[in-house]
Amino acid sequence: MDKYTQLVSRGLGKDIAKKLGLPQPVVLRRHEPGQPLVQGPVLIQGSTAGADELASTLLAWNLDIRRHAVPKEKLGAIILVLDELAHPDDLEKPVLAAAASLRDLAPNARVITVSRTAASASTPEIAAARQGVDGLLRSLAKELRAGATGNGILLADGADTTSPSTLGALRFFLSGRSAYVDGQLLAVTSGAGQLPDDPEKPLAGKVAVVTGAARGIGAAIARTLYRDGAALVLVDVPAAGDHLAAVANEVRGTALQLDISRADAGQRIIDHAVERHGRLDLVIHNAGITRDKLLANMDAGRWNSVTAVNIAAQLRINEVLLASEHFRSAPRIVSVASTSGIAGNRGQTNYAASKGGVMGMVRATAPLIGAHGGSINAVAPGFIETEMTARMPFVTREAARRLNSLQQGGQPEDVAEAIAFLASDAAGGISGEVLRVCGQQLVGA
Ligand code: NAI
Repeated sequence: MDKYTQLVSRGLGKDIAKKLGLPQPVVLRRHEPGQPLVQGPVLIQGSTAGADELASTLLAWNLDIRRHAVPKEKLGAIILVLDELAHPDDLEKPVLAAAASLRDLAPNARVITVSRTAASASTPEIAAARQGVDGLLRSLAKELRAGATGNGILLADGADTTSPSTLGALRFFLSGRSAYVDGQLLAVTSGAGQLPDDPEKPLAGKVAVVTGAARGIGAAIARTLYRDGAALVLVDVPAAGDHLAAVANEVRGTALQLDISRADAGQRIIDHAVERHGRLDLVIHNAGITRDKLLANMDAGRWNSVTAVNIAAQLRINEVLLASEHFRSAPRIVSVASTSGIAGNRGQTNYAASKGGVMGMVRATAPLIGAHGGSINAVAPGFIETEMTARMPFVTREAARRLNSLQQGGQPEDVAEAIAFLASDAAGGISGEVLRVCGQQLVGA
C-alpha cells in the first residue's frame, strides 16, 4: 500500500480526503491460498439457456448462487449473461435488472458480463448489440467503488457459457487474482482448455521459463508460478547473476544467465530446460528495457537496443520454440506488453513500437502455436509499483498512479497473477489475446 493510500484509509485523513473530493483508494482483495473464491453470494442475471447452464455449473463450485436478487443482501458478485443478444433493444431488461443490485455490492465485489464477440456477428443489429456490451461494461467499471471491478468475457464462435476457458476466466475474474484488472473484456477464442484438478496448483507438473526474472515483475512471476506448482528456469543477464540466483533459490528453480538478444538464446533455453528439468511447457517473455527520449531527440542506439530486447528477441526465440519437438505438449507462451503500446506514451516511441510489436506478434503466432495444441497471449501492464516507476518524477508518478478507476498503482504480483492464469490449461481456449492489468487507466485507450 503506498503512503497516500495509508493516509486516506482511516481516521482524520479519510475525513479530509472525503471533504476535499480527493482520490480514496482502498486496499484491494488479493489472492491468498485457501481463501474463498468470492466474498458473498453470486447473483447470475440473464434468462437464456446459457445463463441456466452457467448457474448449474457454478453451483458445483460450492458458491452461494442466486438467480434472483434478495433485497438488501450484500453480494460478492453479479454475473450478467448476455449471450443471445439480437438487437440493442435486448440490452435494457437484463442490464436494468442488474442495475437494481449494484448498490448491494460488497467491497471488492465483482461485476462480470458474459457476451459474444461482435466480430463473429452475422447482422449489423447483432453486432451493434454485442459491441454495445463493450461500452456498457467499460462505463460501468468506472462507476464501481470500494475496490469492486467490472470485467467482461467475450465468447467467440466455438465457445459457450460453460466452455473450460469461460469458466477459467470466470474464476480468474471472480477471485482476488484479478484485483488490478478492471474494465477489460477478454475473449474466449475456442472450446479448448481444461480446468485444473487442484485450483490452488493449476501449474502442477509444468516446466516454465521466465525471462528477466532477477527482479521486479519477473521475480514476482517466478514466485507466483512456483506457488501455482510449476518448476522454473529463470533467465537474466549475467550482470544480474547474484539476484537471479537468489530468486532461483527461493523458488527452487534453476538459473540461466543469458542475454535473450543473443542469436542462440532460444536453443540455449530449450537445452537448459530439457537437461535440467526434462521438459518445457511454458515460456514467459518478461525481460524488457526502456530507453526513453522524445522522438525528435531519438538516436539509433536507443531505438535499436529497445527493439532488440523487447521484440526481436521474442520473435527469434519463438521461432526456435515452435520448431522444437520439445515444445509440443500444450505449449503456452505469455508475453509482457505495456499499455504504452496501446495508448502511447510521451517519450516512449521506441518502447511503444516494441510493445505494440509484441501484441501484433501474439495475434499472428496464435494459429502457429495452435497447430501444436498450444496458446500465446500478452499481458499489458499499466502503472506498476517497481524500481522503474519509483524513479519517475513525483508529479508524473502521482498522476499516473491515481488516474485509473482503482486510484492506485498495481503490484508486480497483479501482473504475475494474470500471467499465471494465461499460462494455465484453464486458459487453453484463449489465444492471440491481450489482457490489460492497469486498474482501468483513465488516460489514453
Ligand atoms: P525491471 O527493469 O525491474 O526488470 C527487467 C529485468 O529484465 C531485469 O532483471 C533485467 O536485467 C532483465 N533484462 C533486461 N534485458 C535483458 C536481456 N537482454 N536478457 C535477459 N534479461 C534482460 O523491469 P520491470 O518493471 O520488472 O518490467 C518487466 C516487464 O514489464 C518489462 O517487459 C517491462 O517493459 C514491462 N512493463 C513494466 C511496467 C511497470 O510499470 N513497471 C509497465 C508496463 C510494462
